[in-house]
Amino acid sequence: MLTQPDSLLKYIEDASGLRLPDGHFIDGGFRAPRAGRSMQSEDPGRGEAFADFARGDADDVADAVASSRQAFNTVWLRTPPAERGRILARTADLIRRNTERLAIAECLDSGKPIAEARGDVSGAARTFEYYAGACDKLEGHVFPLPSEYVGYSQFEPVGVTAHIIPWNFPISTAARGMAPALAAGCTVVAKPAEQTPFTGLLLAELLVEAGLPAGVCNVVTGTGIEVGAPLVAHTGIDHVTFTGSVATGTSVMHACAENVTRSVMELGGKSPVVVLNDCDFDSAIANVAGAIFEHAGQICSAGSRLVIEAGIHDRFVEALGKKASSISLGHGLRSPGMGPVNSALQRDKVLGFLDRARERGAEFVCGGHASTDPETGKGYFVEPTIVADRQADDELVQEEIFGPVLTVQKADDAEHALHLANCTRFGLVAGVFTGNFSRAHQLARDVDAGQVYINEYFAGGVEVPFGGNKQSGFGREKGLEGLKSYCKVKSIAARIG
Ligand code: NAI
Ligand code: MG
Repeated sequence: MLTQPDSLLKYIEDASGLRLPDGHFIDGGFRAPRAGRSMQSEDPGRGEAFADFARGDADDVADAVASSRQAFNTVWLRTPPAERGRILARTADLIRRNTERLAIAECLDSGKPIAEARGDVSGAARTFEYYAGACDKLEGHVFPLPSEYVGYSQFEPVGVTAHIIPWNFPISTAARGMAPALAAGCTVVAKPAEQTPFTGLLLAELLVEAGLPAGVCNVVTGTGIEVGAPLVAHTGIDHVTFTGSVATGTSVMHACAENVTRSVMELGGKSPVVVLNDCDFDSAIANVAGAIFEHAGQICSAGSRLVIEAGIHDRFVEALGKKASSISLGHGLRSPGMGPVNSALQRDKVLGFLDRARERGAEFVCGGHASTDPETGKGYFVEPTIVADRQADDELVQEEIFGPVLTVQKADDAEHALHLANCTRFGLVAGVFTGNFSRAHQLARDVDAGQVYINEYFAGGVEVPFGGNKQSGFGREKGLEGLKSYCKVKSIAARIG
């Protein structure tokens, strides 16, 4: 049954009405790639290419970095902080006014349901709004030196910043890096993922429409090897913000080491959701389902491990299985309960985990197979899947699957739950569901994660710093903490007699 107005569904067949850009965004406008090459973006909801975009290379990267350097030295460094704030605030407004175009582009490019895409666009606007207000509040310190001295510090922008963006949250991740970088006075060269090039380009265009001077934000599209690698290795880059896999993050860190370039690494996760016997049962069910099935589990902070106390284990897993089985699948523009995974590659990677688990004798509470859009029989879908109690050393417990797959771990009590929660090499986020205030905060204190959600998974907003411990990375984005990544502290001491 079609529940969407035709105005949305027409884009499943023909996305040309979105007027998606086919060039890089360099020096304030769209520009053809030097080598004249292009590549195609797929709509994972039907497994077909739907638009061409520029396939860049090191020459395009060099143009973008030169443009960002020039804009940093001659314009942005001299733009008063309050004016930077006004431009970012206008950008937030423009993002909101362009919600539908951005959300449809995001939905087709990434596969995510249109409601989630609209939420991401609204979050991107909020991110610009938040950092708009911070531009003129970057205050330094005065140091308590003896009276014949004056000592103070000031924040300076680090310079030209590179942003490597993944395909799971294209506009959110772009905004989360660009907004604080621009607020701090840095210029930007962004590289969207090759699976999802469009909203990063559209965002750069909106920034210029909002008054951002040419060259302050450049976007180069193409593959990780052809564009990402030369960008992070470029000697003109002062800082790299990377979001993606641990393996690629490691190679980016090597490149940064060569030039002593600063970096923030947002890598993978295998985040636990600890549910204790005394939780609010219905609320915990809804949250655990949302934590893993939103964007088909392709979220670095997805709650991919349910650590459940023995007393409610059976009842909880059964109810959760029913809920998961009732989730409808479909193309993102049909407003399904869950959309596809991002590519055939990603689907096959997820299915590989499930096949191996089956061979090890794992019991599936629900799901476990590939699927398609029920209207067209196409697309890269994986059923919402729950795998019953696995040991801590199981691959399903230890590896980031990045799909709609929840692995259950049964805990004897709260102490055992903490032990299981901390049993992986990742430490991005953790969820805790309990009615016991003290126990909630004990777990929050003891769990090894950059962020802890109590009684609501994904609680918080742009105000709350986000980032990982252990192999989930280092550095923090969001919040005022996120601004610091783009600032250098200069200390000044003077003898005044
Ligand atoms: P990836 O980490 O290779 O890609 C992320 C970004 O890095 C993309 O923009 C890509 O073009 C770029 N990139 C790739 N190689 C690069 C290089 N040598 N230098 C600079 N940039 C480079 O991730 P991929 O291959 O798209 O997905 C593989 C797995 O990574 C997924 O199955 C998932 O498990 C994980 N992943 C995790 C994410 C997270 O948010 N934690 C996001 C995306 C992927
Ligand atoms: Mg795509």
